Formats: sequence, C-alpha cells, structure tokens
Amino acid sequence: MSYKPLTKAVLPVAGLGTRFLPATKAIPKEMLTVVDKPLIQYIVHEAAEAGITDIILVTHSSKGAIENHFDKHYELETELALRGKQERLLPLREITPEGVRLVSVRQPEALGLGHAILCASPVIAEDEPFAVLLPDVLMHHPQKGCLAQMVDTYQKLHTSVVALEEVPDDQVEKYGIAEVQGPDLRITRLVEKPKVNEAPSNLSVVGRYIFTPRLMSLLKHTQPGAGGEIQLTDAMDALLQEEVMFGFEFKGGKSYDCGDKHGYLQANVEYALRDAKLGDTFREYLMSLDLQAR
Ligand code: UTP
Repeated sequence: MSYKPLTKAVLPVAGLGTRFLPATKAIPKEMLTVVDKPLIQYIVHEAAEAGITDIILVTHSSKGAIENHFDKHYELETELALRGKQERLLPLREITPEGVRLVSVRQPEALGLGHAILCASPVIAEDEPFAVLLPDVLMHHPQKGCLAQMVDTYQKLHTSVVALEEVPDDQVEKYGIAEVQGPDLRITRLVEKPKVNEAPSNLSVVGRYIFTPRLMSLLKHTQPGAGGEIQLTDAMDALLQEEVMFGFEFKGGKSYDCGDKHGYLQANVEYALRDAKLGDTFREYLMSLDLQAR
C-alpha cells in the first residue's frame, strides 16, 4: 500500500442536531459552547495539533455561523484595538490555528455520515489519506490529543486507524463496537449497537478516524443502509474485506459525547474545573451546592 503523510481532515457539520432542539433551531450544534469556545473550535485545534493543515468542513446552508466563526472579523478587532482591549483580542486571533486552512463543501441534505464524508471527495485526491473527526465528540487528554496519537500509529503501520474507547457493559448498546485481535488491536468486525451479550468487546468507536484513500472509493458505491442513510460503518465493513485496519485505544484521557445532553453538561463542568482561571472558584461553588436539596 502506498503511504502518504496525513494533511487533510474532514469535519462533518451538516447534521440536523435534533437532540438539542430547540437550542439548535437557529444555532448549529457544533457552535454550542463548552465553557467559552464552541465545540468546533476544540476539534479544529485537535486536528492542528496532529499536523493537519487542510480542514474540510462539510456544511449546510443553515450553518453559516461556523464559517463566520473561523473568518476574520475586522470591525470587532479594530474596535477592540481602539479601546485598548488587547486581552480580548488574543482569544479572537487564536480561533484558527497558525498554518491551518479551512474550506467548505456543502451537503445539501443530511443523508448520513457516510454521505457527508463523500461530499468532501472533490477536495481529496484519489491517493490521499484523510482523517475524520466528529465535531460533537470532545476528546480531552492532558498530554497529547487523540488524533495526534493516532497519527503516530498511522506513521508506523500505514493503515486505517480508528479510535476506540472502553465503555461499561450498560453502555455497549449505545455505540458501534469493534471486534479486535491481538495486542495491536487489529479490527476484524464492527457491530452497530449490539446487545451486551452479543457484543464482541467493550471497545466502542469514538469519532476519530484515519482512513486510507480506498475508503472514499468504497463510499462512492455504498448503498443507503439503516435509516435510509449512507452509513460510514457500511463502507468501513467493505474496507475491512480488502485492507487491514487497526484500532487505537484512547487511554489516559476522557471523551465527551456532546451530541447528547448528559455528555454535553459533563463536558462543561469538567472543562470548567480544568480551566486555569475559572477552575478554583468553580470547584468551590460546586462544593457549596447542597445537592440533596435539589
Ligand atoms: P450525529 O448523528 O451525531 O448528528 O452526527 P446530528 O444528526 O446532527 O444529531 P441528532 O442525532 O439529530 O441530534 C455526527 C456528526 O455528523 C454530522 C453532524 O453534523 C454531526 O456533527 N452529520 C451527520 C452530517 O454532517 N451529515 C449527516 O447527514 C449526518
């Protein structure tokens, strides 16, 4: 298999975000904030840390706020500079990481995650590997981002690499679960939302992928599956028939499924507790709450 370094990442942001209605009626789900930054900004920074230079947003006409967020806002910057508010300017200038370009392609209709990724095919060469990061999954790691760790594996093995995370038995039914072999976690099968007694492992697929170019050509021939949508899992199954694929077990950090209200609230509390400026006072506030009384 020919090997090329990984420079492109696809971020699908064209979904409807129905689990967060009414909040997501006029605001894209990916723009919901965790402490003081929208979800999508954390993801773009995780990609940049992994050496990604080209980010492809697969977006929809209702999601213009995402592109605006990464665009320069001259009036606001000029106004802040005139008022001498340098400390407020800095966070604005850090939104888009140095050396990263963002381009957008449209997914006119939310026809599934697989379809969204396929919409990025015109800007990914046929021999190019690419990463996919789901913007509603935050992956916190105190030392090194999840995608950056996966890139290390990709550079060694030159195969597709899929992030996996151990979940408790009672959560298995909510996720895609991988059957793996050996200490290298070679993936042999993927099972969508299995019953716990039928699950091949406790390792769930968590929203970070590095794919060889072959995945895109397989997606082009993937028929609509569950829910009438073009499913990424179906294309990954087809890839498994042709190529070796490895799991990367995300350890020493924590993932937050921010597409779900509980995961989103957890992320806000835990990112606030870790925040250098807010953490101490927020911890004191939480400790002062009489939780029994609520
Ligand atoms: P989700 O299924 O979690 O997002 O897809 P959703 O469909 O927007 O949310 P709910 O279930 O209705 O609440 C994961 C990511 O894939 C994108 C979404 O925007 C989200 O960031 N996605 C999903 C697309 O871009 N296109 C699709 O057709 C489906």
